[in-house]
This record gives sequence, C-alpha cells and structure tokens, in this order.
Amino acid sequence: MDRIIIRGGRPLKGEIQIGGAKNAALPLMAASLLTSEPLRLSNLPHLADISTMAKLLRKLGVEISMDGNATGGGPGGPDGRVFAITAGELTHTTAPYDLVRKMRASVLVLGPLLARAGRARVSLPGGCAIGTRPVDLHLKALEQLGAEIELTEGYIEAKAENGLTGAHIVFPMVTVGGTENLLMAASLARGETVLANAAREPEVVDLAQCLVKMGARIDGIGTDTLTIQGADGLNGADYAVVPDRIETGTYAFAAAVTGGEVTLTGARPELCEAVIKVLTGAGVEVTPTNNGFSVARTNGRLRGVDMMTDPYPGFPTDMQAQAMTLMAVAEGASMITETIFENRFMHVPELCRMGADINVHGASAIVRGVKGLSGAQVMATDLRASVSLVLAGLAAEGETVINRVYHLDRGYERLEEKLAACGADIRRVRE
Ligand code: EPZ
Repeated sequence: MDRIIIRGGRPLKGEIQIGGAKNAALPLMAASLLTSEPLRLSNLPHLADISTMAKLLRKLGVEISMDGNATGGGPGGPDGRVFAITAGELTHTTAPYDLVRKMRASVLVLGPLLARAGRARVSLPGGCAIGTRPVDLHLKALEQLGAEIELTEGYIEAKAENGLTGAHIVFPMVTVGGTENLLMAASLARGETVLANAAREPEVVDLAQCLVKMGARIDGIGTDTLTIQGADGLNGADYAVVPDRIETGTYAFAAAVTGGEVTLTGARPELCEAVIKVLTGAGVEVTPTNNGFSVARTNGRLRGVDMMTDPYPGFPTDMQAQAMTLMAVAEGASMITETIFENRFMHVPELCRMGADINVHGASAIVRGVKGLSGAQVMATDLRASVSLVLAGLAAEGETVINRVYHLDRGYERLEEKLAACGADIRRVRE
C-alpha cells in the first residue's frame, strides 16, 4: 500500500488549481441513466471514486468515452477530464455489492434506474467509517413516488412497472444523496413532485442545473423546496462540473496551518462562506482574486474559533477534520461540534499522537491549541480524516508518514503534486 511522507514546517507559497467537485460529479454521472442521448460532462476530476462510478455505469450497459483534451485543459488541467456518457440501452439494472461496498455513492443509480427502467437492484451500502449512514430516507421517498421496495439478501429490490408518480415529500432530515436520488427519479415521474426540507448543497444545485439542461422542469433550485414537473423523457446535454469547495477549503486550511500564502485558482468563494468565516475568525487573510481567492497567514499565530457542522450553507462536515488540525495549533481553545455524522472524529487519536490536545465529549471536541505538532506515523479510515493528517504533517516538525493513501486518492487529485508545487516537502512511496 502506498504511503505519503512529509517533512513539515515549510510555509506553502504559490498557486493551486481547483478541480471539479467529486460529490457533484458522482450524481451527474448517475444522471446519464435518465436519457438515451449522450451526456457530456467536463471538468471531471481524475479520482478513484469517478472510476468506480464509471465501472458501475458500464456494468449497466452505459458507454463512456473519455476526451481529455476536448476543452483544451487535458487531464487534470483547468478543464479537467471530459466524459461522453451514453445510456442508449440499459442492459442491466443491478448495482452489485463489490462496487457499492467500495463507494456508497453507488446508491445514486437507484432513483434514475427506477425512473427509466422501472426496476433497480442495488446492494445495501451498510455502515462505514464515519457512521451507520442508512439509506432509509431515499427508500421511503421513492415509495411515496409509487415504487415497491423490498430488502432481500442485502439488496434493495425496487420496482415501478407502471412508472413513478409525483408526490409531496417532506424529508425528516436534510439528506444530500436522498435529495439527489429523488430529484433524478422525479424528473421522469408522472406529474408534480415537491421535495421539502431538501438539501441546498452546491452539488445538489449542480445536479438540478444539469437536469434542467437535460430538459427537466425544476423550480426552487438552491432553496429547501424543490418542485419538479416530471417529463416523459430527457435529452442529452453538455455540462461542466462545479469546482470542488471541499478541495478549495482543504488547501485554504493547508496554507493557513503552515503560515503560508496560496492563491486558489478556479475556486468559487461564494460557495465557501462558512469556511472563509472560520479562516478570518482565526486571523487568516482571505482576498478575492479574478478567478478565485487567496489565503495568507503572514503574521502571528492562529486564534481558536468555535464551530459546528451543519447542512449547507452551514460549515461542511467534510471540512471538520481539516478545521480541527487548524485549531490544534491555534492560540486558545475551540469547540468543534459534529452534527451530521455520529462517528466522525477518527482523526482525533492520530492528531493527539502528533502532539495535539483534543478531548471528545459526545458530538463535541474541545481542542486546546498547542504551539506545534511533531511528525509521526499515522493512518486514517476515511478521506477527510486522512487529509487532516496531511495538513498536520505539513505543519509539524519532522517527518510524518501517512499510511492507507488510497483514501486520499478517492477525493484529492494529484495531492502531492499540488502541494509540492507550493514548496511542500511531500512524496509518495509506492509499494
Ligand atoms: C454526502 O453524503 C457526501 N457524499 C458526503 O461526503 C458528505 O459528508 C454528506 O453528503 C454530508 O454533506 C457525496 O456527496 C457522495 P447525507 P450522503 O445523506 O449523501 C443520515 C466525503 O467525504 N441519513 O446528507 O450520504 C446520514 O446517516 C463524503 O466526500 C439517514 O439517516 O449524506 C447522515 O447522518 C463523506 N438516512 C445524515 O443523514 C438516509 O436515508 C446526512 O447524510 C440518508 C441519510
């Protein structure tokens, strides 16, 4: 298994190009199942999860051709990758366990398969490192659209032989994936669907905008009430994936924690307001640029800031671990409360092994800032926890070795390259 080795203590300086958002790209790829015409997605990041989704779609009979240079950017360039995805005819409707186990977002094929093919068989995702993460809300909402759902042998068996029918759905809690699955299913349902208490995450907005380009009629995009007028069919479209606000926030925090100065090119600051508020509260300078924003901490130590994760526009749970690394070396104490997932503090013991002073009490962590961290051998069990250890390694004295790098490869494209270009001493050891 690959490892990443960092010699810390160097301020990051330079420019980082932000790629397309993984969590927008995955539902957009699933949306290709809704039409027999090609959906051409650009600015796709080159990540393990994208390859897993492509593999799943191919299993369903979807054809995918890659055109890395179509918009001049090339793979990983400013325009990312381009996939032309054509679900001409669906040959299978099963998402098997071996793929769903690798990536929970595979469950996003459920809504579109059911709406287009009238049936779907999707492995139940089961729990994962950050919590139990059930999909009950997706299933209940699809049942409200008329789907018949049974759970057998670890699979969701869903049927809607006479198609889906619009309904008024109130989500009891905000669910990003649930909103996305229902948006896609409702686009091909008969009549009107209202999704109340819908997720407002920019990735949901991206999906809704792409569906509109595909001919769907959706009102209330960006609000917590989405109204969808179902259509008989959708058409192909060209769509560019929104820049990744979590990659943006991660590199912004990397610049701050190392006392550096980094420009995040292609970033959308208006999608990162809660993260920018924490940065400025901690004493970091954030300045808009023509095509993104820059982050600088040139004078003095960081200040501790309290924060709580919340659905968008609140502080993202996907930035909580990175925020904890920042607070670990800030002056004073901060309280970080996780309200979305019940077990998202696995980075805490690893940060403590690097010298951080953090105590967890239920859903909150008290972080008492220390003057500095020291390098260590660490590992983490999920993507964001792993990257918080990369940030800690960049700030720490001495050498940090991050194991289980495959977690990072799921969500950060060319991580070492981007950081090394800003002066980080970071390398991957392939084994
Ligand atoms: C999405 O997961 C993201 N994944 C996650 O990013 C992100 O952390 C999460 O949204 C919250 O922002 C993708 O977009 C692919 P939810 P999702 O449904 O859709 C509970 C990363 O690091 N819930 O909004 O699975 C659930 O257990 C990943 O990139 C139910 O109880 O999240 C959680 O506590 C990790 N029943 C809460 O709701 C359901 O049926 C929010 O989950 C659905 C969800």
